[in-house]
Amino acid sequence: MINIVVLIYSKKGSTLQLAEEVCNGIDSVSKANAILRRVDELKQTQQQRMIEKYEKVQVITKKEIADCHGLILGSPTRFGNMAAELKYFIDQTLDVWISGELIGKPGAVFTSTGSLHGGQETTLLSMMLPLFHHGMLLVGIPYSEPGLSETKGGGTPYGASYVSNEKKESVLSIEEKNLGFAMGARVAKIASKLA
Ligand SMILES: Cc1cc2nc3c(=O)[nH]c(=O)nc-3n(C[C@H](O)[C@H](O)[C@H](O)COP(=O)(O)O)c2cc1C
Repeated sequence: MINIVVLIYSKKGSTLQLAEEVCNGIDSVSKANAILRRVDELKQTQQQRMIEKYEKVQVITKKEIADCHGLILGSPTRFGNMAAELKYFIDQTLDVWISGELIGKPGAVFTSTGSLHGGQETTLLSMMLPLFHHGMLLVGIPYSEPGLSETKGGGTPYGASYVSNEKKESVLSIEEKNLGFAMGARVAKIASKLA
């Protein structure tokens, strides 16, 4: 099996919604398997209640990172950057960097923002940087995906994205869904070819 880890942080569930589409895309590829995981809360934030569905997502282990065939990171945008919780986890992957376990594997990124111009691209780029340091092959979304030209919300060539408008009842648009799915499928197909 080709195992693709989708590693997220999500406080209100918007990034989780997009993660589910990315996972569906991975699982649509023959012999590919999506492994949805979350990073741990930080001590400072763990007293805040998590949404139930997110709480059920297992916390990532280092072994899962080392063993994966591809890694996709997802984070809400926090002041134009990834969430501290995800950054904190990445900062603990020195051993993975030293052993070179991610070198040559495909990687991708996705995000969720409250507003349309709230920093999706900067957040996506910020998540790419450590993946480059780990030697990963960065995978974006090509313009052959019609959703990239049609979207009125999220969806970028740098990675999938979702404009949640900060509303609890907000759901992904059809373009945001399709682009998340397409990105997951693309990473899985590339990982299969590389394997
Ligand atoms: C501390 C903080 C900073 C944020 N910064 C931004 C921002 O720079 N741009 C933006 O559009 N939304 C920003 N937001 C809103 C979140 O990105 C948005 O609600 C996102 O969809 C939450 O994802 P989640 O449901 O997965 O936690 C911020 C939220 C918080 C709590």
